[in-house]
Amino acid sequence: MRGTVPVSLYLFVFASCTQHDKNTCAVAYGYLQDDCIVRGSANSVGEGIASSLGVCSRDRQPPEDGTNTGPHVGDVTGGEEQQYPWLYDDATRYMECLDEFQRFSDEWEGVEGWIKEHLVELIEAQDQRAFHDAALVTPATIDCVLPGPLQEDDQVYWMLGVGSGSGEVDLAILRALLPHHLRVSTTVIEPDPSQIGLYRELMADSELSGATFEFHQQTSSEFMMENSGNNKTFDLIHMVHVLYHIEKRDLEETLSHYYKSLSPGGMMIIAYESDKSSLARIRKVLQPFKRGTPPYMSIGDIEKALLKVTPTFQRTNIPGTLEVTACLTGDSSASGERLWDFITRVVNFRANAPKESVRRAAEMLREFSWQLDGSDRFLTNCDTAVLVVAKRDVPPTECQ
Ligand SMILES: C[S@@+](CC[C@H](N)C(=O)[O-])C[C@H]1O[C@@H](n2cnc3c(N)ncnc32)[C@H](O)[C@@H]1O
Repeated sequence: MRGTVPVSLYLFVFASCTQHDKNTCAVAYGYLQDDCIVRGSANSVGEGIASSLGVCSRDRQPPEDGTNTGPHVGDVTGGEEQQYPWLYDDATRYMECLDEFQRFSDEWEGVEGWIKEHLVELIEAQDQRAFHDAALVTPATIDCVLPGPLQEDDQVYWMLGVGSGSGEVDLAILRALLPHHLRVSTTVIEPDPSQIGLYRELMADSELSGATFEFHQQTSSEFMMENSGNNKTFDLIHMVHVLYHIEKRDLEETLSHYYKSLSPGGMMIIAYESDKSSLARIRKVLQPFKRGTPPYMSIGDIEKALLKVTPTFQRTNIPGTLEVTACLTGDSSASGERLWDFITRVVNFRANAPKESVRRAAEMLREFSWQLDGSDRFLTNCDTAVLVVAKRDVPPTECQ
């Protein structure tokens, strides 16, 4: 089932860009539409967008007749006021369900492919000090002259992983960084001690030379609180499939904190479920109507919060699929139940949710799935959206 996933780079659209002084560019940001996105390609990050083709991508897109927008409140809950056991409150069950999801999806291969194909380029451009607004398609700054190569005392590359889990993302990034940096110091924020244990084992087995680690067994907000006073900055901060654990009301503060923690020329990577993902679409319908669970947060909400922190960032789509055969057969199986819990973020969803919600969720998943040619297996979309944020290397006034 697993294999290398081709990674398409979809660059976001700047609807307008008005030069209001020599070096800064006010941009209006156009959100990607679900049904039609501008497909661009970057020949190199330093050069920015090579082309913007305006091609509509309809691969695995939802039907456009509005039938998939989900039911009204009453349809889902059947009028029942029910407290749902939230998956994130049950660490053991969450890890079981996450493992099941990873076993049946190619999401990791997609993220790894993106790191190898695109993040490597971004890091190279960053090393050349060419990673500035050109990478984020702000034309007014493309010709800025930026400072020269890194100085001796800049030799350590500082990385921060928020919710690094068992370390696979960090390892892939370290493999991209270490050929170019003598020393990489990684600060790991991860609240789950078993994940930290797996992380340590993975790094010990990987025989990396030049990498050092500092572990914080904490949530992101605990880390932020503890470190709000210090001025430590990082060259790379990543949050890969982690923001689900941050509440919508804390989002802007979180993004702002980490943006401020970037060194000049540093970059921040955020990966989150795309709004094309069936998981996002199902939860968007179900979650708002469940008492006691946090409001649904979409990639669009993250982009809106990010825009309050920085006017420019880049959005990429990584295609992904999840095999949901076990969810769609009439019989219940442990595997199917774990996948359902992961999709809905409710513990024992099919037992705990009102029958109408269970029926509607199954109906949506069937609608959003397709059969693998010549087999009795069903797949559904689990695309990942990646946002890349770059911090300016020099203040605009120095860039004449
Ligand atoms: C889906 S996993 C992603 C792990 C890793 N970034 C990756 O992509 O492989 C989410 C991780 O976030 C961690 N996490 C949960 N709540 C968190 C919080 N409040 N702050 C930071 N990390 C959190 C979980 O323990 C888990 O390891």
